Amino acid sequence: MPRFPIDYSDRKPLGRTGESVSSIGMGTWGIRDEESAFKALVHAVALGLDLVDTAEMYGSGRAEELVGRVLREVGRESVFVTTKLYPHRFRDPERAVGAMEASLRRLGTSYADLVLIHWPDDLAPLRVQVRSLEAIADRGLARYVGVSNFDRRRLEEAVESTAKYEIVVNQVKYSVLDRSIEEDLLPACLRLGVAVMAYSPLERGAVLRSRPVREVASRCGRTPVQVALNFLVSRPMVVAIPKSERIEHVEEIRGALGWRLRPEELELLEKAGR
Ligand SMILES: NC(=O)c1ccc[n+]([C@@H]2O[C@H](COP(=O)([O-])OP(=O)(O)OC[C@H]3O[C@@H](n4cnc5c(N)ncnc54)[C@H](OP(=O)(O)O)[C@@H]3O)[C@@H](O)[C@H]2O)c1
Repeated sequence: MPRFPIDYSDRKPLGRTGESVSSIGMGTWGIRDEESAFKALVHAVALGLDLVDTAEMYGSGRAEELVGRVLREVGRESVFVTTKLYPHRFRDPERAVGAMEASLRRLGTSYADLVLIHWPDDLAPLRVQVRSLEAIADRGLARYVGVSNFDRRRLEEAVESTAKYEIVVNQVKYSVLDRSIEEDLLPACLRLGVAVMAYSPLERGAVLRSRPVREVASRCGRTPVQVALNFLVSRPMVVAIPKSERIEHVEEIRGALGWRLRPEELELLEKAGR
């Protein structure tokens, strides 16, 4: 039997909010060609991959500006926008609100769907950071709040520190080749009702060269990229956010949905992971 119950839905619950999001969204880190990325992101939204992940850090604000262009093209309501702010912004609620306002100016919108603390900052008490995160939601600048790169202990503390809003997402590295979160963090997320947003789900291209992934792909008539993403979305509460700036790659990514690997194929891949 595979390690987790297979989730057959291509939409995932956003924590305990009652809202659901596409199980595959698009990342925006490390964009090389903005025109090509713009077309790819617009195409992704048209194909139903309507969740976009960005951050104030990416391209020093240029990625958020690019997402802003996409929002103007497809319509703000057509996309679930996640952005991430530098951890030091959360040392004070007013500072967090100011940084969020700057992000929203680049995004050209009055609100994000989700804002995350990009990574843990041990220089400020976590309850202060969570209060700052909540201040952003309180001002109506983000609909939901969450964290990124939090281990189980920090996630539990963040969840306990909330006063008014829930931590709905923990964005962490997770791929078929790197399943380290499955030991401790993924079970904790499932228990706490926190969705996992899996970043670097293609291991920046390394999944294409993985022998077990290639073997399963040829067995089931899919591509290695599709197998790697299908593995992740077969997990409960897991959303994958691959990055691509090429329309043909976006189409291949879209082909990871609408079917599931068989239990024995999931087991084969589980044995192969680091
Ligand atoms: N919270 C964090 O700390 C954190 C850290 C890292 C990443 N992230 C987020 O997660 C997103 C994804 O992670 P990532 O960018 O590190 O890596 P990734 O999604 O694992 O890999 C991206 C690479 O895969 C290539 N690719 C995409 N589709 C492909 C296909 N169908 N065939 C062949 N190659 C393909 C892309 O090239 P092309 O563009 O040419 O298609 C790109 O070079 C980021 O963009 C970012 O939004 C968050």
